[in-house]
Amino acid sequence: FSAKALAGKRLLITAGPTFEAIDPVRGITNLSSGKMGFAIARAAQAAGAEVTLVAGPVHLPTPRGVRRIDVQSAQDMLQAVLASVEGADVFVATAAVADWRPARAADQKIKKDGSGEVPHLAFVENPDILATVAQLPRAKSGDLYCVGFAAESENLLANAQAKRLRKQIPLLVGNIGPATFGKDDNALLLVDAQGHQELPHASKAALGEQLVAEIAKRIAR
Ligand code: C5P
Repeated sequence: FSAKALAGKRLLITAGPTFEAIDPVRGITNLSSGKMGFAIARAAQAAGAEVTLVAGPVHLPTPRGVRRIDVQSAQDMLQAVLASVEGADVFVATAAVADWRPARAADQKIKKDGSGEVPHLAFVENPDILATVAQLPRAKSGDLYCVGFAAESENLLANAQAKRLRKQIPLLVGNIGPATFGKDDNALLLVDAQGHQELPHASKAALGEQLVAEIAKRIAR
């Protein structure tokens, strides 16, 4: 692993879950810990990259030397990403973005009035941050290298290949094995136009370094 494989490069990364408000004290989120994204951010910084990390609500320290922007919702995350993407060479989307959000968040706490009535939530679809970034002219021209993640419960290779094509990105990384959320280790399946390759079971820290090396290799060619 070359220590300065990303020297002079700018990397933008999303990590963690998003939080979609129902009212001022409630919301919908998921169990993403942000650990994989933070590990990649740390490894990229160590490899010489200037790293901006857009993080949903997580309980993790900021890796040394990394610029961090904290956000809550998918819409906030998209805004922060679009505000930071200019000049980036690599975009890595590890965030577990909520697919849907409540159609409108109540201004005041929704009250339980004792009648037994329950609130009925309507949902709208969130923007797809990765797909949006992949359609930017800089990404389409190849100046911005986009990396997506996939957590699938079955048919990982076929689903990862399909997702790579659907999102129109050069590299899609699949989480091998279920329930990687919150864990300190993982195994990854890398799918690109050339084929696929496995990064075997290891700590997320080690996998972050290996993935950064793989990304560096691909943007160098
Ligand atoms: O479509 P799916 O959610 O399975 O795709 C996962 C990939 O897309 C991940 O890289 C994730 O960070 C990204 N994504 C996103 N915005 C969304 C949904 C997914 O950036 N709204």
